[in-house]
Amino acid sequence: MQGNGELILAIETSCDETSASVVAGGRTILSNVISSQSDLHAEFGGVVPEIAARSHLEALTPVIATALVDADVTFWDIHAVAATLGPGLMSSLLVGVAEGKAIAAALGIPFLGVNHLEAHLYSNLLDQVGGSAPPGPDGRAEAGEPRTDGRAEAGRPRTDGRAKWPAVALLISGGHTLLIHVQGDGDYAILGGTIDDAAGEAFDKVARFLGLDYPGGPEIDRMALRGDPGAVRFPRPMLTEPGFDVSYSGLKTAVVNHVRREEAAGRAVSVADIAASFQQAVVEVQVAKAMAAVEHSGVDRVLLCGGVAANSGLRSGLGDACAAGGVELYIPPPELCTDNAAMVACCAHALLARGTTTPLDATPDPNLALVPPRA
Ligand code: KG4
Ligand code: ZN
Repeated sequence: MQGNGELILAIETSCDETSASVVAGGRTILSNVISSQSDLHAEFGGVVPEIAARSHLEALTPVIATALVDADVTFWDIHAVAATLGPGLMSSLLVGVAEGKAIAAALGIPFLGVNHLEAHLYSNLLDQVGGSAPPGPDGRAEAGEPRTDGRAEAGRPRTDGRAKWPAVALLISGGHTLLIHVQGDGDYAILGGTIDDAAGEAFDKVARFLGLDYPGGPEIDRMALRGDPGAVRFPRPMLTEPGFDVSYSGLKTAVVNHVRREEAAGRAVSVADIAASFQQAVVEVQVAKAMAAVEHSGVDRVLLCGGVAANSGLRSGLGDACAAGGVELYIPPPELCTDNAAMVACCAHALLARGTTTPLDATPDPNLALVPPRA
């Protein structure tokens, strides 16, 4: 069971992506099929839980079948099955967990219920073929060769996975914005987080207000490439306050107020400039807090993960700060930043190595925490 090439079949259905993946040895992605529901939710401007659950039900079995075919394996080659146990939408989690448990029971192999947040952390440990370099200031990716000497150049994201602990992780997604001191496998200390909206939620809400499509993060990212990040000086919430917490609801309101004021005054509003200026405010705050967390924790390594880690401004902003500070930076390629089952398999492999499996009567927990609250 603990051999290097053991195959894990993982399932991710916590929100609006139905994904299944086969990963060998916890690192080598043999397949990673992602079926996004975003078109179904777009007309509502956000995820509708009933639609999400029904769509997972329809998509999951074919997605798993494709993951097996793409990996060129059958159910009988699989050593363990993993599914996201939480946090997420209860009705969506249930679909993946029920199917994962059923497959594990039918095959008589271990089942692992994985914490979605921990899985995002492990996205930095997956091997990458080619990978992606951080975009330059004009948004174009720099041509970057993956390094092969096992060490990341300071400030230059590793492109072939294999991050190491201890590190500071910035987990930044649609549901969470957390700075975490990763001390070891399964050993996490939360340094700070958002006190209101998650960063991805703020991107999505601002995008919706600006009339951009759902999900808004990638749309703002794209618009920002054409805008001037210095056009509007939006507030940098909590930038100068001690600690590692951030807040985004005030920034969102500042964008709304600015646009309404400009329109009321009859001045033309450039959506590109607003997008670039909003993104710049988020990036400045997150980069400053991440670098402060590095200093506080005494580590020399940063891991970026979660859907917003796909943001070109954040990737290059954090890249510059880490380069200036002589800090190693690891960022998964964009397709492994947003929700996917490969990261679930990678995390499940580490759980197995720790001797952990999940009983088949375990139920999903929509509020599952990364660090269990003290009793
Ligand atoms: O990790 P994820 O796929 O799902 C959650 O666990 O929440 O993150 C989704 C979030 C959405 O809010 C989406 O708008 C945001 O990640 N996102 C981005 C970008 N790509 C995805 N935000 C900013 N820039 C992007 N390029
Ligand atoms: Zn996620």
